[in-house]
Amino acid sequence: MVELAPSILSADFARLADEVAAAERGGGTVIHVDVMDGHFVPNITLGPPVVKSLRKVTKLPLDCHLMIENVDDYIPAFADAGANWISIHYEDCRHLHRSLELIAHHGMKPAVVLNPATRVDLILDILPMLHHVLIMSVNPGFGGQKFIPFSLDKIRRLVELRQELGLAFRIEVDGGVAHDTVARVVQAGADLLVAGNAVFGAGHAEQDARALLAAARVAAGE
Ligand code: DX5
Ligand code: ZN
Repeated sequence: MVELAPSILSADFARLADEVAAAERGGGTVIHVDVMDGHFVPNITLGPPVVKSLRKVTKLPLDCHLMIENVDDYIPAFADAGANWISIHYEDCRHLHRSLELIAHHGMKPAVVLNPATRVDLILDILPMLHHVLIMSVNPGFGGQKFIPFSLDKIRRLVELRQELGLAFRIEVDGGVAHDTVARVVQAGADLLVAGNAVFGAGHAEQDARALLAAARVAAGE
């Protein structure tokens, strides 16, 4: 079953609770939270205090995508704030296995994110410990960028590996997922769709989430 994870990066931060509620009414079942520190990526967004506020206004899983350096230092704070899923970048972690264990130890679901230039096969050995793999289909840092087509090959490779290894991790895709790309993303095998601009960009999150999810379900044959 395909799920939609609206990314609040493109929401109106002054009306965050309303925006999340609208995306939820439109069928969003996971809230994607982009955490950026101005070092790992050239943009700054939010941290645990905002996650704590979001926790009060939604029961949906909070899917925190960390684009920050020294992730280990912040994992306890995200757990205390009420985060459910934590994804960390392969390119950002010197001791990826240790960081993933730390996330699990704090009761959250661990995931790895791969930048467009990072090969899927590099994480083969740690696939069994992952709740999901997040394929970046843009370079991280900003919403509203153009989808990079070879991401589709990476989704297909993950589907193949999941089958070969008999695993159950989910495949999430982030960046440029919109009406013109969603069918290809779903048909390649993604089952968690992050969308920022396509949900919040035009100011009517409920109807835009609903339309995007409907298109995804048609493409998935659901
Ligand atoms: C980019 C973020 C994305 C972003 C996607 O670094 O990780 O989650 O919100 O935005 P869209 O859907 O607009 O490409
Ligand atoms: Zn993201």
